[in-house]
Amino acid sequence: LILSVPRDSAALSVGAEEVADAIAAEAGRRGVALDMMRTGSRGMFWLEPLVEVVRDGVRHAFGPVTAADVPGLFDAGFGDAHPLALGPTEVIPYLAEQERLTFVRCGITDPLSVADYRAHGGFAGLEKALALEPAAICDEVKDSGLRGRGGAGFPTGIKWRTVLEAPGDLKFICCNADEGDSGTFADRMIMEGDPFLLIEGMTIAALAVGAAEGFVYIRSEYPHAVATMREAIRLAEAEGWLGADMHGSGRSFHLEVRVGAGAYICGEETSMLESLEGRRGEVRPKPPLPALEGLFGKPTVVNNVLSLCAVPVILERGAAFYRDFGVGHSRGTQPFQLAGNIKRGGLVEKAFGISLHDLVYRFGGGTASGRPVKAVQAGGPLGAYLPESLFHLPKDYEAFAAEEAMVGHGGLVVFDDTADMAAQARFAMEFCAIESCGKCTPCRIGSTRGVEVIDRIRAGTDVDGNMALLDDLCTLMADGSLCAMGGLTPMPVRSALKHFPEDFHRPRQAAP
Ligand code: NAI
Ligand code: SF4
Repeated sequence: LILSVPRDSAALSVGAEEVADAIAAEAGRRGVALDMMRTGSRGMFWLEPLVEVVRDGVRHAFGPVTAADVPGLFDAGFGDAHPLALGPTEVIPYLAEQERLTFVRCGITDPLSVADYRAHGGFAGLEKALALEPAAICDEVKDSGLRGRGGAGFPTGIKWRTVLEAPGDLKFICCNADEGDSGTFADRMIMEGDPFLLIEGMTIAALAVGAAEGFVYIRSEYPHAVATMREAIRLAEAEGWLGADMHGSGRSFHLEVRVGAGAYICGEETSMLESLEGRRGEVRPKPPLPALEGLFGKPTVVNNVLSLCAVPVILERGAAFYRDFGVGHSRGTQPFQLAGNIKRGGLVEKAFGISLHDLVYRFGGGTASGRPVKAVQAGGPLGAYLPESLFHLPKDYEAFAAEEAMVGHGGLVVFDDTADMAAQARFAMEFCAIESCGKCTPCRIGSTRGVEVIDRIRAGTDVDGNMALLDDLCTLMADGSLCAMGGLTPMPVRSALKHFPEDFHRPRQAAP
């Protein structure tokens, strides 16, 4: 019996370990020879734990499996007649309709097998990069149209060029794996499910800019990702894909994992650098840009996990291949993450241009509660709440910006018609008040005043006057904050006011 069970955190959180143990015990009891591989997740979270059985070279899916289902699955010979049988995994529409360039191996390979990674095309991009001049690597990435997947969408190739051309022998590659946005999990999934991909992407970045050292800054809430990345770095070093004189090329790159301490603001690049240097995570003013004066004052590439993980396929298959996906100035694919009140939550990698409607309904299946969708918050806790009338919007940086919204890191959090958008607006201010690094006044003080003003509006106290005050405060925070934390907090607040004004004028019941 050949099968796989994920050991990704999402699967573990719903009992994958118990299922794996039950399968091993049952096979032992029945004297069945078992070949069980532990993989990452396929990203269909409503089906986790998803067990895949290989029959005639084809993987057949079963899920969601509990430990109690295991004897029955053995009785049925893991056949198609079992009620948990989903058929061949690759033809499940949720997967079959995706365009997986970054997540192509996730859930399929053993995350900690270099041989498996190689057998599935791994390190092909790095092999090409080893034969190229640094400037040629930067150009390839620039020509692919890749933009920063952390949310800001700055062209990756141009950032790398800036670091390459910055004077100095000591340069760094820092991967931002702080993934603090609510409803996002793509960074975690890829680090746990295909860690060599990130190592490969970072090594290519190092070759492109002439860096010899790199750091992966992972949030402490991701212990499995930390452990997987550390082990993957050790294995890649042992096999010559990392470390001194990589594959006889004379080039060296050393990589280390650093763990954050739980601050949302350490996802902001300069705070992350402060934290990496051993200081309190507080935002530094820009300029100087990290590309010129970053870690320890040296030229530094700071990229999100997903940006770096998009690079190997660009080097392997060429800029034109990647650029062929997408629309307008949003090229390639984005791993979208469906979360919140949604029937089929999980990861959907698609080319830019897919509509919100398709993501929420075709892939997500609408709400988990079965009630009508009221809003989707796109791009994390600092992103806009969008109503159904805007669901035709294509996922595209510019189209979203035109509606005062953002694609961000690709997260979507769905709300049904019971949600109170005035409460959500209050939450945005409260979140900012809690997570503010405290360096500038509009964010540190403004967010607390914001909570108070929204409370007065919700209580029905001088609603018009307080609405005007809230509008002023939003303008001040957007224009006067030092970083995106305070600068973007008005986005969810304003979108709630604009699209759901009735929620701010609801008659409130007195507390019992
Ligand atoms: P930004 O626009 O200031 O910078 C984007 C990137 O481009 C930075 O790395 C910056 O150093 C670089 N850059 C800008 N001009 C450059 C130049 N001329 N040459 C070289 N590099 C240059 O945006 P910021 O503040 O870094 O990020 C804000 C975004 O972060 C938001 O739009 C939001 O979507 C996202 N975000 C993501 C979160 C997550 O969990 N992934 C959480 C919160 C926010
Ligand atoms: Fe710190 Fe907020 Fe100012 Fe950003 S906007 S520097 S998080 S106080």
